[in-house]
Amino acid sequence: EEDKLYRYNGVLFPVLISPEENLRALENMEARDNDVMLVAYPKCGFNWMLSVLHKIMSPPTGEKVEFSFPPLLEFFGPQLLQTLPQVPAPRLLGTHLHPDIIPPSFFNKKTKMLVVFRNPKDTAVSYYHFSNGNPILAAAESWDKYCADFINGDVPWGSYFDHALAWEKHIDDCNMMIITYEDLKEDLRGGIRKVAEFFGFDLTNTRIATIAEDSTFSVMKKGSKDSHGKMGHVLFRKGEIGDWRNHFSQAQSEQMDAAFEKHLAGTKLGSKLKY
Ligand code: PPS
Repeated sequence: EEDKLYRYNGVLFPVLISPEENLRALENMEARDNDVMLVAYPKCGFNWMLSVLHKIMSPPTGEKVEFSFPPLLEFFGPQLLQTLPQVPAPRLLGTHLHPDIIPPSFFNKKTKMLVVFRNPKDTAVSYYHFSNGNPILAAAESWDKYCADFINGDVPWGSYFDHALAWEKHIDDCNMMIITYEDLKEDLRGGIRKVAEFFGFDLTNTRIATIAEDSTFSVMKKGSKDSHGKMGHVLFRKGEIGDWRNHFSQAQSEQMDAAFEKHLAGTKLGSKLKY
């Protein structure tokens, strides 16, 4: 299991989808100011919002714009990166990377970025099941070990808290929009409307309602074999808020609360991520 992961600047990454040469190649990637960029720490709702953005950007005729490439930056690699300049605007791009290793060009060009977060306890539970179900990641020895590793930040793509703190610094940037998984569960239509407005897509209320209906957990899970193949059932697992209660012991819950307090107390993002 160990050789599935390696460290880049001290942070774990899966060799198969994010080898060092891919991360190095990103340093010089050229962003465009009209890229539609989605950023999410793993298991915070990346595929959900990617699908929503894909629908927002597609013509309302029902025909979907096809991705001409896998939309995860760290998966591209040097060769695919070279083809990106030919992709017509607006390009839909995404990443799980920490802002420090997102290509600097995105910040220099003030590319709009949608950042998705989710409360850390549900994120940890989702990540635990995903690590066990996805052959590119290392399976967890036990929930107890996994939970401790997550709290310590020793999981692929790095510490949840490091990511949250880094985005907190950008929370008022006009080219960033931070949305939470919990916001989206509570009001998907409202979330989709805000996201569309942020990226400058003018959609009718009917269109927004249709996109919301097509983006519920049950609809997406049903279509997941077509959209995500064998990984569908692993990616669309439960789709709920609060599943952490079925996994965390009292002591683990308190440890996460303490870590949350230590890193995020008093922050704007922290107040959005209460659970
Ligand atoms: S990944 O692998 O990091 O890109 O995973 P990611 O897509 O970010 O997160 C997966 C979790 O998102 C849930 N999900 C949804 N929840 C609600 N509604 C919809 N439509 C939806 N689509 C995906 C998915 O079920 C994973 O959470 P858990 O808690 O494991 O079910």
